[in-house]
Amino acid sequence: MEEYSDRPPADVAWYPMVPIRDVVIFPFTKVAFKIGRAGSVRALEQALAGDRMIFLATQHDATVDEPTPEQIYGIGTLGKILQSQKQENGQIKVVVEGRERATTVRVENAEGAFMALVRRAPVVNEEGTRLDALIQKIGQLVEQHLRLAPDTQTDALQTALRNQEPSHLADALASQLRISVEDKQGLLEIFSTQARLQRLVELLETEIEKRQLDRTIQTRVKRQMEKAQKEYYLNEQIKAIHKELGRKDEKAELEELKKKIEEAGMTDEAKEKAMQELHRLEAMPPMSAEGTVSRTYIDWLISVPWKQKSKEIKDLAKAEEVLNEDHFGLAKIKERILEYLAVRQLVKNPKGSILCFVGPPGVGKTSLGKSIARATGRKFVRLSLGGVRDEAEIRGHRRTYIGALPGQIIQMMKKAGAVNPVLLLDEVDKLGADFRGDPSAALLEVLDPEQNHTFQDHYLDVEYDLSKVFFIATANVLHTIPPALQDRLEILRLSGYTEREKLEIAKRHLVPKQAEGNGLKPDQFDFTDEGILEVIRHYTREAGVRNLEREIGSCCRKLARKFVSEPPAENAKDSIDAARVREMLGPIKFRQQGIAAQSEIGLATGLAWTEIGGEVLQIEATLVKGRGGVTLTGKLGDVMQESAQAALTCIRARAERLAMSLDFIRKRDLHIHIPEGAIPKDGPSAGITMATAMASALAHVPVRKNVAMTGEITLRGKVLPIGGVKEKLLAAHRFGIDTIILPKDNEKDLVEVPEEVRDSLNINLVESIDEVLSYALEDSVPTAAATDEAPPLWNTEQPSQGIQTR
Ligand SMILES: Nc1ncnc2c1ncn2[C@@H]1O[C@H](COP(=O)(O)OP(=O)(O)OP(=O)(O)O)[C@@H](O)[C@H]1O
Ligand SMILES: [Mg+2]
Repeated sequence: MEEYSDRPPADVAWYPMVPIRDVVIFPFTKVAFKIGRAGSVRALEQALAGDRMIFLATQHDATVDEPTPEQIYGIGTLGKILQSQKQENGQIKVVVEGRERATTVRVENAEGAFMALVRRAPVVNEEGTRLDALIQKIGQLVEQHLRLAPDTQTDALQTALRNQEPSHLADALASQLRISVEDKQGLLEIFSTQARLQRLVELLETEIEKRQLDRTIQTRVKRQMEKAQKEYYLNEQIKAIHKELGRKDEKAELEELKKKIEEAGMTDEAKEKAMQELHRLEAMPPMSAEGTVSRTYIDWLISVPWKQKSKEIKDLAKAEEVLNEDHFGLAKIKERILEYLAVRQLVKNPKGSILCFVGPPGVGKTSLGKSIARATGRKFVRLSLGGVRDEAEIRGHRRTYIGALPGQIIQMMKKAGAVNPVLLLDEVDKLGADFRGDPSAALLEVLDPEQNHTFQDHYLDVEYDLSKVFFIATANVLHTIPPALQDRLEILRLSGYTEREKLEIAKRHLVPKQAEGNGLKPDQFDFTDEGILEVIRHYTREAGVRNLEREIGSCCRKLARKFVSEPPAENAKDSIDAARVREMLGPIKFRQQGIAAQSEIGLATGLAWTEIGGEVLQIEATLVKGRGGVTLTGKLGDVMQESAQAALTCIRARAERLAMSLDFIRKRDLHIHIPEGAIPKDGPSAGITMATAMASALAHVPVRKNVAMTGEITLRGKVLPIGGVKEKLLAAHRFGIDTIILPKDNEKDLVEVPEEVRDSLNINLVESIDEVLSYALEDSVPTAAATDEAPPLWNTEQPSQGIQTR
């Protein structure tokens, strides 16, 4: 502080000083406030006694009642008291007009009042574009500020802005802004107008930013509030709607679920899981996506049968009755089924005890399953495994997958609604396997009596007992069933029906069934035996009876249509005979006669065993000029190619006996063709047929028509046994073939062949290819070959080309 001896300089003078709290008073502003503290009142009185000028400076800390000079800011405002009014409580209300800034030089306490020696601060009023720009900017900011906070004293700020003098404007604005005392004091202490305006800009900008932030927070909060309110409102509405529709509300529904869980008879594990899920569900907002997932899961747990059991029929006589009622014939199979049922009653979990019906389509595998269910009083469910490639289809997806569901096994159990249904695993041979896992592995677990009482479905996620389920499998062929699975199965073969059996099946089952299905009464018409045989012989060619049933159905539909358009007279009985069948079904589809219309050279008829049962196939061999090679065409496997090679070698070795010149063979290529669609699954059984076709072509002797053969051939011409005799002979019978050539070693299989078929066929059992040829080839002496075709070419000896395939 400066020392002044006598007279202070003109801009320095003594003034009574009033420390003020919470406000900063600026020059060029009028302020009204109350003065209450004794020292301040005395200072005021002194001022009033003099030129009414007073020095106003702000305390650092508003809570201090008796501040020392050090606790008061060193820069304040000199002001003139315009009015003063004593209040009743001793306080004085004053109106002061700020005049100019001043800095304290010295403060003294005279008789309880502060006296301050202050120096007036010069007004620093810069000019220029920068000042104008600042003022303009401030104008904009104030406006923006007002927009964001319309509650603030709009008028006061706008008035402040109207000041012409930049310095006045700055101070008026500073005093009106709602900023902290510290910031205000800071503004007061800036003497330069330009600097003060600059600082004001900063303060206004911060203020605006704060307001903006406030506003976004507010709107965000508001938006959230609105959303919550909306949801609440909508939920209330849903509840109201449900109530209106007579549905139970949330709570009652959960109660009901709980009751259902308790009543479902679940295992402890399952019940615990269900209850757990129910608690989760309670905590979730109603109708939420999660809630639906939980609910679906609980629903599944509830709806799968845990205890429900159908009452089983133990009476074997009754079971037999049912089986006979549903199916004609199949005596051996039925017998086997009954034995099986008996064993099941005695032994709890018989080993390897899954029945598996194997046979061509339409022989009644699926319907036998149904019949077993009926015979044992169980529910029947069918799971088609054809094309199932994904393990998850058997076992389900984990619940974490969107849209996850239990696997087919559990779905079937739900469908059955009992723990002891007959579950028919249809077409196990069509089961696929790929990168998604091997479904047959899952199936193994299902079928294993050691494991299936704790079957785990990925979705259900609790152990489920399948041990009471009666599993039956069906398949067309065995060889595509994985060996591990085959091991669990007890194979029962259904190989197809003879014509007579088909007729009986049609009369007893198919015609009545189709008649009923098409709304015909049994006494309205008569399907004659000739009519049915016509269908069997000329409109179907199959091991089973599916197409037969379809064609019969088709006849019934035509009859039904006729009955509707021209109702029959009372007691009139329509009859469907052979002629009527032809009329109804149109042109004949199959001719009941040998494959070949006449005996031909190089055309041999073979018998094959495919997945649709026995088949008749024709093998053609033709000679062309060449170099002793063999070309095989058609879709052949390795086994068949080898078989062809063996056949050729064997025929070559017999060139002389067949009156062929070896050289002649060398100058010819042999082309053998096996038509597609009749590729035997049992590989080498076409051996003798190929050999016969070759021999016939080379020796230029026709193969007898209506002769069909099957057998494997060795290089030395021995004929080896083959499989599927019954199926093959049934096929031959179906095709109207009368002579069969069969390996001697297959004689034992003939007992399985229905007598009717055996009697209709002339079966020749052979051991060597020579016997085969003697039965198969026409008697004509094979002399023409060498001379007829082409002159023998003796000179060019060339090696054989071996077998080529195309
Ligand atoms: N012996 C029979 N007695 C009475 N009806 C039979 C007999 N065999 C088959 N059927 C009938 O033939 C129809 C076809 O049988 P099913 O569907 O069971 O054949 P499938 O052997 O399962 O054939 P796929 O291998 O094509 O599944 C059924 O309507 C069935 O009732
Ligand atoms: Mg079937």
